[in-house]
Amino acid sequence: MRKAFVIVSVLSLVAFALQFVFAAVGGFTRPTGDDAYALHSVNGMAVIPVLTVLTAVFAALAKAPGRLIGLAILPIGLVVLQPLIAMLAEAFTDASGVSTPLGLTIGGLHALNGIIAVHVVVGVHRGARQLAVPVPAGAGRLVTREGEPA
Ligand code: HEM
Repeated sequence: MRKAFVIVSVLSLVAFALQFVFAAVGGFTRPTGDDAYALHSVNGMAVIPVLTVLTAVFAALAKAPGRLIGLAILPIGLVVLQPLIAMLAEAFTDASGVSTPLGLTIGGLHALNGIIAVHVVVGVHRGARQLAVPVPAGAGRLVTREGEPA
């Protein structure tokens, strides 16, 4: 189960990294149209949420510490925010459909939230790898009293 947790956390990290690539694909596609962000949309609305849920499920199945399970669940909340932030950014265009400073600031929060999510996913992957390292027998921490020889 611990190996499965590592594998699914890697897949999740790859999907998150690709999301930035797909954002650039959308930004550079000409002519700009509704389907410029199709890859970003599919990856963000389907692939990333599924992999994020799977990562949290495997963290629990691998009996990861509660903190790590919580960290694995956190990106779900951050990912759910992403379409809402994108919609809000679009909503703050002016009457002629031109972007406003407020709309662009909210759009920037979409990227910032994405960066935060990636950092969390990197942390989850590190935790999964540490959990998968077998602890050699007798390698537990030796606790001694002050002044007592170890
Ligand atoms: C972890 C990172 C990210 C996630 C999970 C994410 C997720 C999403 C999702 C779910 C949508 C809504 C798609 C739809 O409504 O069909 C969206 C839209 C969008 N995202 Fe991201 N995103 C991320 C990072 C970024 C970055 C870094 C940028 C650019 C700097 C970006 C730019 C956009 C734009 C411009 C839209 C609107 C696309 C449209 O008009 O259809 N995203 N994103």
